[in-house]
Amino acid sequence: MNLQEIFSNNKKWVAGKLALDPNYFENLSKGQAPEILYIGCSDSRVTAEDLMGAKPGEVFIHRNIANMVISIDMNVMSVLNYAVRHLKVKSIVVCGHYECGGVKAAMQPADLGILNPWLRNIRDVYRIHQDELDQIEDNAKRYNRLIELNVQEQCINLIKTAAVQQAHKERGLMVYGWVFDIHTGKLKDLEINFPKELDKIMKIYRLD
Ligand code: CO
Repeated sequence: MNLQEIFSNNKKWVAGKLALDPNYFENLSKGQAPEILYIGCSDSRVTAEDLMGAKPGEVFIHRNIANMVISIDMNVMSVLNYAVRHLKVKSIVVCGHYECGGVKAAMQPADLGILNPWLRNIRDVYRIHQDELDQIEDNAKRYNRLIELNVQEQCINLIKTAAVQQAHKERGLMVYGWVFDIHTGKLKDLEINFPKELDKIMKIYRLD
């Protein structure tokens, strides 16, 4: 895909929107009130809005390598706080995906420079769940399971934040973990029991 192509695609997209509604962009410019915060992977094959069938204005989106929620990452924490405290989203989704290159890199012994501290957080997920993961002999299955457990741990990282704890108590904000199956195109809900997970960690992580 060359950049020239993008500008001609954009012209067609604008024309298509205006053909259906001449005020489309005028209305879009008035503001946003998305009800969902989506945190997903930067992978070019996991196109957030497209796979969810979401329209402009419906989902607030943050993407990084391997859909990580790291407490000292100002980027994800700014997105989270803005979405929860100002936009007042009702749900937060962490969406991982099978064949995630970030998770794969974390499973291999290699010095990847600046990526080392980022991927270290995935190695930590492996260590937390080492008993379960080491029992899986099939490499592909172990890789898939680490992808799922990484989503689960990033959901727990969300639950550790004051913004999420307060919004859950005040207005029932919920956190969900999903995996996009790149082999079939289907979304899988990991059915993380948010109230139960919250309960489990509050003894140590309560912030209010
Ligand atoms: Co990925």
